[in-house]
Amino acid sequence: MLRSRITGTGSYVPEKVLSNSDLEKMVDTSDEWITERTGIKERRIAKNLQAASDLGIEASKRAMHSAGIKPKDIDLIIAATVTPDMPLPSTASLIQGRLGAKNAAAFDLNATCSGFLYGMAVADSFIKTKGFKKILLIGSEVLSRVTDWEDRTTCVLFGDGAGAVIIEPTGQNRGILSTHIHSDGNLWDLICLPGGGSRHPASKESLKDKLHYIKMKGNETFKVAVRTLESLVIDTLKANKIKPSQLALLIPHQANMRIIQATAKRLNLPMDKVVVNIDKYGNTSSASIPIALDEAVRTDKIRNGDYILLEAFGGGLTWASALIRW
Ligand code: COA
Repeated sequence: MLRSRITGTGSYVPEKVLSNSDLEKMVDTSDEWITERTGIKERRIAKNLQAASDLGIEASKRAMHSAGIKPKDIDLIIAATVTPDMPLPSTASLIQGRLGAKNAAAFDLNATCSGFLYGMAVADSFIKTKGFKKILLIGSEVLSRVTDWEDRTTCVLFGDGAGAVIIEPTGQNRGILSTHIHSDGNLWDLICLPGGGSRHPASKESLKDKLHYIKMKGNETFKVAVRTLESLVIDTLKANKIKPSQLALLIPHQANMRIIQATAKRLNLPMDKVVVNIDKYGNTSSASIPIALDEAVRTDKIRNGDYILLEAFGGGLTWASALIRW
């Protein structure tokens, strides 16, 4: 049976660190509140000249290096992002050009924080049904550009970064076992960035009303996220007839430590089987899972044959999961 498999991982985060104590000087907050309510201690901030493609290119080079492939080998580039360099062309096209991946098709995918796993679902089916051989899947975000640094309810949450994987076909009984994607657009206004599109194009009013920043109803989102992720992870394992005790690792989207803990608890998983880096990077939206995956691979947390569950939840609303046998 033809499956697809991750053959290389890479990630990149900007050097500049913004700590909770730095934020204490910017808004009415405290390290204690942020740590207790979110698990975040610091996040990375891109340089002024760095956009999503710049971060994505660094992560992609590392992923290609780990898979042992060259840019010209790639036949498709998917960039999951909510902070593209510009509305058009796509960030994937910019990355394709600058990498010299001249044989690759390229497009962006916006499924907010679930974007990387939506992209994995697309890559998996393109490999199985369309004969693609080497897909570069990237999650890259510069959320600091769309963060309202005067709004303490959101500015403590987000950070910048990028992660990437190479996905290739395999005839072995391993790789991506299943992907699951969902959405509920009726709850679109729990997390949104209203300005800059065709509904509220950039104008003096949109700037004055701060429409170009992320708005989030945090507490309502939190409750839906916990409930939704609990059933998502159980359903994903059931679909593969896998028991939670067979899981080697859970790699969750890093939005809130309490959400991560609730999901782990539902699976009866000890926290040493959960990849957590929210303390270092905050919520990097579509980049969070590929960064966490790359760190897990590079610190030898993943062995061949391991069952790994990936899950995400975000604006849209969207939620998604994937079960992988490494
Ligand atoms: N520092 C100090 N106090 C803050 C604060 C901050 N940075 N941000 C909010 N508060 C205050 C609020 O004003 C509120 O005060 P009040 O009780 O006087 O009105 C109080 O803290 C509680 O706010 P609340 O929003 O209920 O907190 P919370 O426990 O829900 O935590 C989040 C807020 C955002 C951390 C949490 O709701 C969350 O993580 N939500 C989900 C995020 C998510 O999953 N997103 C999806 C992917 S993007």
